[in-house]
Amino acid sequence: MKIIVIGATGTIGKAVVAALSPRHEVISASRNGPHKADIQDTASLEALLEAVGPVDAIISAAGGAAYKPLADLTPADFQMSFDYKLMGQINLARVAPAYLRDNGSITLTAGWWAREPVPNVAAIATVNAGLEGFTRAAALELPRGIRINLVSPPLVGAPEWNAGKVARMTPEDTAKGYLEAVEGTATGQVIDTRPYAKAA
Ligand SMILES: NC(=O)c1ccc[n+]([C@@H]2O[C@H](COP(=O)([O-])OP(=O)(O)OC[C@H]3O[C@@H](n4cnc5c(N)ncnc54)[C@H](OP(=O)(O)O)[C@@H]3O)[C@@H](O)[C@H]2O)c1
Repeated sequence: MKIIVIGATGTIGKAVVAALSPRHEVISASRNGPHKADIQDTASLEALLEAVGPVDAIISAAGGAAYKPLADLTPADFQMSFDYKLMGQINLARVAPAYLRDNGSITLTAGWWAREPVPNVAAIATVNAGLEGFTRAAALELPRGIRINLVSPPLVGAPEWNAGKVARMTPEDTAKGYLEAVEGTATGQVIDTRPYAKAA
């Protein structure tokens, strides 16, 4: 398959590219990456897809949202989170079908904190839950057999602030959720990556 990964240089994206590359032709993209695209800039997404399409799968492992105590979260923090991780990926899913082959797939990224939050993630959990609703609903309307799924990892990697407090898994195990989305047949699903985590 010919697959675009947006966010290909990130913690998760790098592992997704590594997992897909032995079996597929992978095009790596991000704002500063080998191929340039910004999920918040529709014209940049269309330019990338126009240049490299048609493709069989489009993956987003990009986006961010405010991580702060609820008392410190401002309307601007929420709006930034909505504009970035939620609307950025919805934007991508909106433009993607025109560049996908029949029976192609869109895979977006949310996070398990929508289901099992920890303190300081009110904005992140809201965005992730919004992506879950979008994915289930969009799957009903995509044309030509195009599928859409949402990978929902817990904390990935080992950020210093975590200090072992929150359940986490490796980028390599997380990437298996993206393989499931791209190589499987499901649509409208939230893919819980935790079953792929190897026992510590
Ligand atoms: N790491 C975790 O623990 C974790 C857990 C659950 C969910 N997630 C979600 O998984 C996704 C990736 O997380 P990560 O930890 O791998 O992030 P990361 O290490 O910060 O990497 C982000 C990647 O996305 C690209 N990117 C950022 N903003 C972009 C934009 N506007 N348009 C296009 N590309 C953009 C970055 O490259 P450029 O800077 O070159 O654009 C980079 O390739 C995020 O949505 C995050 O919320 C992460």
